[in-house]
Amino acid sequence: MTNFIGLRLPLLCAGFSCSCSCSCSCSITLLSTSSTSFSGTATTRPISLLKKWNKGLVKAYPRRMVLGIGASFLGMASSAFQGSNSFIASARINPGPSVDQILKNVEWPEQFPFKDEDFQRFDESSDALFYEAPRFVTHIDDPAIAALTKYYSKVFPPSNTPGVSILDMCSSWVSHFPPGYKQERVVGLGMNEEELKRNPVLTEYVVQDLNVNPKLPFEDNSFDAITNVVSVDYLTKPLEVFKEMRRVLKPGGLAIMSFSNRCFWTKAISIWTSTGDADHVMIVGAYFHYAGGFEPPQAVDISPNPGSSDPMYIVYSRKLSTA
Ligand SMILES: C[S@@+](CC[C@H](N)C(=O)[O-])C[C@H]1O[C@@H](n2cnc3c(N)ncnc32)[C@H](O)[C@@H]1O
Repeated sequence: MTNFIGLRLPLLCAGFSCSCSCSCSCSITLLSTSSTSFSGTATTRPISLLKKWNKGLVKAYPRRMVLGIGASFLGMASSAFQGSNSFIASARINPGPSVDQILKNVEWPEQFPFKDEDFQRFDESSDALFYEAPRFVTHIDDPAIAALTKYYSKVFPPSNTPGVSILDMCSSWVSHFPPGYKQERVVGLGMNEEELKRNPVLTEYVVQDLNVNPKLPFEDNSFDAITNVVSVDYLTKPLEVFKEMRRVLKPGGLAIMSFSNRCFWTKAISIWTSTGDADHVMIVGAYFHYAGGFEPPQAVDISPNPGSSDPMYIVYSRKLSTA
């Protein structure tokens, strides 16, 4: 069955319950016409989300309203005043158990449906500045980390497999790999050298701003797996980065993008901060789809205790053996 995605624009959150603690993004809600829907369906007309983004929506409404910024000005302002260093909860639309269905049989528009402004950020100053000081903290709670580690232990190549290489993109002092996990080559790419130096799983690291230079400094067909934990939302040139991921993955190599509902709000792209968890799955799925050379992306909800600890979603795909 084709999965159509519905999008509704409630009257700027009126009558819509939302537990966002920052940029309330509930002015855009995804609904699926498959068996489970994410929230109430009143006034919902099933349409393709991406087609809607691409066409009438942006013309019909002022962009800031469409992207929820109009609705979330207070949240935005208060989070800005709290300081840009806090890693804060973002949209909290519980997508329920159907996350796994979101990327099934999507009717993707022919063209990449996003616009330049979708990749703008509240804070457009240099990322080097923002990440200059190390943060030896974790960005998701312990149950979410445990769920991710468990997931990795199921899908990673066995520890110490000769010839296996892994790239942890947007890496820091932790990669959340299974305890004792080792490979000949584990590369971390991130913005802060102090953090990367301290990451015990890495055999090497690269400091590089992917928003300035999205070209990955690695040979073609180098890696068996690429991970990116709670950071895909900071990429302002995601298509270039995903094309590079395809290039450096070995044929059949696995790319695992994981995310929760938290972010450095001022540094995340506007299409992310103005949409909810289910939309994020679609957005990351779109990156794989439009980068080309990947199997159809799939989504998994590995949230450990829905509602009581941080949610955790995975969007993954493998490089086609022919790519
Ligand atoms: C929220 S932290 C997540 C760190 C780590 N993946 C984790 O799970 O704890 C965001 C990470 O993304 C990296 N990052 C942010 N913007 C980046 C950019 N433009 N280029 C490369 N890495 C970036 C930062 O270095 C930082 O380590």
